[in-house]
Parts: sequence; C-alpha cells; structure tokens
Amino acid sequence: MYSMNGFLLIEPYLGSYSLNFNEIQHVLLFNLEGKYLVYFSMKPNSPITIIDKSGSPFGIKMGSPEDFPFVLEMYCTFSPKPASQGLPPEDPETCHNWVNELFEIGENVLAWRGDSVIGHAALVPDMKGKSCEFVIFVDQNVRCLGIGTELTRFALEKSRQLGLDSVWLTVNVSNFIAIKLYTKCGFEYCDRDRYERTMRFRLREHTH
Ligand SMILES: CC(C)(COP(=O)(O)OP(=O)(O)OC[C@H]1O[C@@H](n2cnc3c(N)ncnc32)[C@H](O)[C@@H]1OP(=O)(O)O)[C@@H](O)C(=O)NCCC(=O)NCCS
Repeated sequence: MYSMNGFLLIEPYLGSYSLNFNEIQHVLLFNLEGKYLVYFSMKPNSPITIIDKSGSPFGIKMGSPEDFPFVLEMYCTFSPKPASQGLPPEDPETCHNWVNELFEIGENVLAWRGDSVIGHAALVPDMKGKSCEFVIFVDQNVRCLGIGTELTRFALEKSRQLGLDSVWLTVNVSNFIAIKLYTKCGFEYCDRDRYERTMRFRLREHTH
C-alpha cells in the first residue's frame, strides 16, 4: 500500500484508502468482474491519503528538509511536554536541536492535515549496524484515530526498503497506548525492566 508504484484491488463501497490523483503519474484500471484492479505510479514522495477513525483524511509522506519548520510548529504546541522518556524536550532550544538532529541523521515520516504536521515518526540509525531506533509522536488533538498506526506501518515499510535487519524502541511500562500500537504493528518484547520495555520489529522474519 505504501509503495510509490503498485497495484490496488478495490471492492466497490469497501475500504478507506484513497489516492490523490494530483500525485499520480500513471493509472491503469482493469475491471475484474465487479472488482477494480488499479495499477498506479506516483510522483516521487507524494503523500498517501488515508481516512482516520473519525472519517477525516490525512496525508503521510517522508519528511524532507523544507518540512522542518512545520514539524517544529507541531512540537511548539505539543502536550504534554515531555510526553515520554524526556521527549519532546520542554525547553524550546533543546526541542529545536532534537528535531534538527532527527532530520540530519534520521528518516522522518510525517502525517499532515492541510498545511499542519499532526504526527511525526523517525527512524534513527544506531551504532550496531543495520538497525534503527523508532520514535513517534502524534498531536494530542488527534490521538487514538489510527494516525500513529499508519505512521508506524509507513516507517516499517521504509525500513524494509532501506534493507534494515530490525527496528527497536524503548517504551515506558505504563504507556499502554504506545504498547498497544507497537504490539499491533508487530513489535515484540525483547527486554523488560521495572520501568521500561525494549521492543523490536524483526524485518527478516517479516519479509515475504
Ligand atoms: C503513542 C502515540 C504515538 C499513539 O498514536 P495514536 O495516533 O494515538 O495511535 P493509534 O490511534 O494509531 O493507536 C492507538 C491504539 O491504542 C488503543 N488504546 C487507546 N487507549 C488505550 C488504553 N488506555 N490502553 C490500551 N490501548 C489503548 C487504541 O484503541 C488504538 O488501538 P486500535 O487501533 O487497535 O483500536 C500517541 O498517543 C502519542 O503521541 N503519545 C505521546 C507520545 C508517546 O508516548 N510516544 C511514544 C513514545 S514510546
């Protein structure tokens, strides 16, 4: 679903995925006895439009340097600060430097509504080779609508394209929403202590 080019099987009146035709270069439509098989090729880094649980559309795409001010704007009004494990930093300058570093060294995935960033996930390369640490933050006004799930799936698809072996994260034991999201997306516990869990998504096992 998240590839730039691909096939989409559409059953009439079902499904919540939509394609923004401004972002598409080529479309071929095949009618297969009432179902439509769509082949599409998208312009590079076009946002994918998805409908959230409230029925409102939002876009997801990889972040690029010009998106930096929009991400910073989300963190300016983000609440609570910090939300998890000291992040996002409360001090504006520290927050600016943290986002800047994520853009310099990481792969960033952004959820947009109109001109506003409403969610941000990042894959941060670690020193151990072909793995990345995962972080994710969704604006407090749009949580529990499925936006974090789509950002996570998009980031995992990106890490597969990058040829990573695994993606890992740490999460506070009482962050039930995040743990639910990670478990649902295929992360597994690999280390537990009293306050924190380490979870890992193994891309080798999930490659098909
Ligand atoms: C964690 C976070 C990124 C999740 O994003 P989101 O857009 O709210 O997530 P989603 O809506 O896609 O998924 C949340 C899931 O938690 C479930 N959930 C909601 N409240 C829950 C609770 N109290 N206990 C367990 N699960 C809960 C939701 O039902 C949903 O699962 P479902 O889609 O299977 O129904 C977001 O809440 C956030 O930014 N939190 C603050 C920052 C943070 O903690 N980041 C993670 C750092 S490790």
